Amino acid sequence: MNEAMETEFGLMAAWTADAVREIGSRHAIPAACRGSAGPAMLRWLARECRLRANTLMVDVGGGLGGPAAFAQREYGVRALVLEPMPEASREARVLLGVPGWTARGDALPLADRSADAAWCLGVLCTTPDRTALLAEIARVLKPGARLGVLVFTADVPRPRGAPEGNDFPQEAELPGLLGDQGLEMVSTIAGDLLHDRQEGEWRQLADEVEARVRQRHRGDRRLDAALEQERRIGRLLKDGVVRPVLISAERRTDQNR
Ligand SMILES: C[S@@+](CC[C@H](N)C(=O)[O-])C[C@H]1O[C@@H](n2cnc3c(N)ncnc32)[C@H](O)[C@@H]1O
Repeated sequence: MNEAMETEFGLMAAWTADAVREIGSRHAIPAACRGSAGPAMLRWLARECRLRANTLMVDVGGGLGGPAAFAQREYGVRALVLEPMPEASREARVLLGVPGWTARGDALPLADRSADAAWCLGVLCTTPDRTALLAEIARVLKPGARLGVLVFTADVPRPRGAPEGNDFPQEAELPGLLGDQGLEMVSTIAGDLLHDRQEGEWRQLADEVEARVRQRHRGDRRLDAALEQERRIGRLLKDGVVRPVLISAERRTDQNR
């Protein structure tokens, strides 16, 4: 991971958690879903992954733990955040109350066929080795278990103005990428087709936290670097150059893929 991404996913996670502690815990889940899914997308993923009480759900590249905490609160799952940035996995535990372990997606500290469901949200475009990541997820899922993915796609890997370190897959290549690892695509939908009446409230709660972070760390060049990353992806999404896609995929039941 390059410096800009470490700042965006590590330091910003710690600063966000500090701001939530100052403002109030109502802000925690929306602020900790930074840069990824809102309630409509999370509900679609939860339905597709058949989340229910006591499902062991692993969130790979789970960041600060916002999506996992949402699944824990709304569906009663046993969530586990696996995230390479130590600041983020720590705050998933401390701030969001979700077990969070520091781990890379291509070396998950879980036994074969141990998880009932997995999420991987906004991660596939941030790592160069998507194959290794998906192979690990397939390894830890029980046969028949589902993976929910949010992936940012584009027509070319690095459109002009892309955030540093990002490399976007094309939508058409996703069924093959998943299928090669024994993950059969079940369903897919364009993320921006979904809406939930909580969406506006979430955005406001998250924006208030970001405003506090900006105020606290004004003048720090690392803040400028992280915000520039966010500005770039925001612009590409707004222009439709980068498009969010949701996918559910099922771990094939045959033993060797
Ligand atoms: C856009 S953030 C999304 C965070 C979280 N999934 C969410 O939706 O709120 C991307 C996350 O992927 C993580 N990441 C990057 N490379 C990874 C890898 N090789 N394995 C697992 N996670 C990775 C980053 O540390 C970061 O937390």
